[in-house]
Amino acid sequence: MKLYVDFGGYSAIEKGNLIIPRENILNKEDFDKIEVGEVVDIYSKRGKFLGRGFKNPAEVRIMTLRKEELDENYFREKIVNANNYRLELGFKDTYRMVYTQSDWLNGLVIDKFNELSTIQIFNYGIEKYRDVIVETLESLGIDTIYEKSTGRNRKRAKLPEVEGYLLGNKKETIIREGEAKFIVRIDGQKTGFFLDQRENRLELEKFIKPGDRVLDVFCYTGGFSVHAAIRGAYVTGIDLSKKALSVAEQNMEINNIPKDRYEFIEGNAFEILTDLADRGEKYDVVILDPPAFAQSKKYLKNAIRGYHALNRLGAKLAKRMLVTCSCSQPIEPDAFKALVIDACLKARKWAKIIKIGSQAPDHPITSKGTEYLKCLFLGVEEI
Ligand SMILES: C[S@@+](CC[C@H](N)C(=O)[O-])C[C@H]1O[C@@H](n2cnc3c(N)ncnc32)[C@H](O)[C@@H]1O
Repeated sequence: MKLYVDFGGYSAIEKGNLIIPRENILNKEDFDKIEVGEVVDIYSKRGKFLGRGFKNPAEVRIMTLRKEELDENYFREKIVNANNYRLELGFKDTYRMVYTQSDWLNGLVIDKFNELSTIQIFNYGIEKYRDVIVETLESLGIDTIYEKSTGRNRKRAKLPEVEGYLLGNKKETIIREGEAKFIVRIDGQKTGFFLDQRENRLELEKFIKPGDRVLDVFCYTGGFSVHAAIRGAYVTGIDLSKKALSVAEQNMEINNIPKDRYEFIEGNAFEILTDLADRGEKYDVVILDPPAFAQSKKYLKNAIRGYHALNRLGAKLAKRMLVTCSCSQPIEPDAFKALVIDACLKARKWAKIIKIGSQAPDHPITSKGTEYLKCLFLGVEEI
């Protein structure tokens, strides 16, 4: 079936954005008649072929910009290609193997943790290829696959939530990240571990001095905390999730960090930071890695306010360095930079950008829509 897009849809595809909302389709009646999950071809108003994908309830997810069959072979080939790309980049056992449209598998995310894998499907058309995905992963040495197709993206595709094993039954594995070791549990948040922060966690180690006091806010299972502790820091981690903090404790133990070098506080970061600031506490390095405050443009204004307040608190507590992140895709890197610097000034801190980090290269950025993680390393001094 042919669907024609307006200029907005056309220029989005020209810029590499492969999710085309119904609003951009000119022949909406045809769109509405097509069964979800069916293959559709997208054309410009003037009849130029633009891409091929699957119809979803409110959008078309373009899979390819070529006129090629979307069949079992397509899935096998694209997964193997995506895996080879990571191996060529030097990734070994643990990496994001498939990152949705960047790997021509729009709406499929696969993370690999040694021989264990978690997958997420957010595209009706991919649903019927589950068996091929499992078989291909098995051929690549994976022995446990856990599907975690839950949350906002699944709702958007009007698909029921699916969670459970597709292969094997392992519950956890221990991964390596530089010198650090981490327990990854299949029942963890999102796909189990935030692989996107890999480079930034490794980068942090360069700035830690033995004896530093480090505050890791939104620490999850201790990602940044463990790297800081390995370099000799005293770490305080904060997170809302008791379950994540119990794994954070175990992660410290498996990295042989003495018990007197870390503490984890369960609670709301905003309240705890306010309390620490009121008490005049100071930390050599403060890390802020909150969940996404803006999942879509609708929440942008509130999100910016939230990031500003958080960074102002973080800057107040930081003596030498602030490492601050945002995984909200709608917030542009320059806007984030500007709000962080402003928040530092409001906290009477002179902030100097040392390094601008992004998502790890196993989450390839191919268009605006695929870039989401920002991570600023800032030197700070009292004004
Ligand atoms: C993006 S993850 C952090 C990942 C972590 N830095 C790492 O490297 O693995 C965000 C974390 O924020 C926690 N969180 C969400 N809302 C929170 C809140 N209001 N206060 C404290 N923690 C919160 C979640 O439980 C989650 O662990």
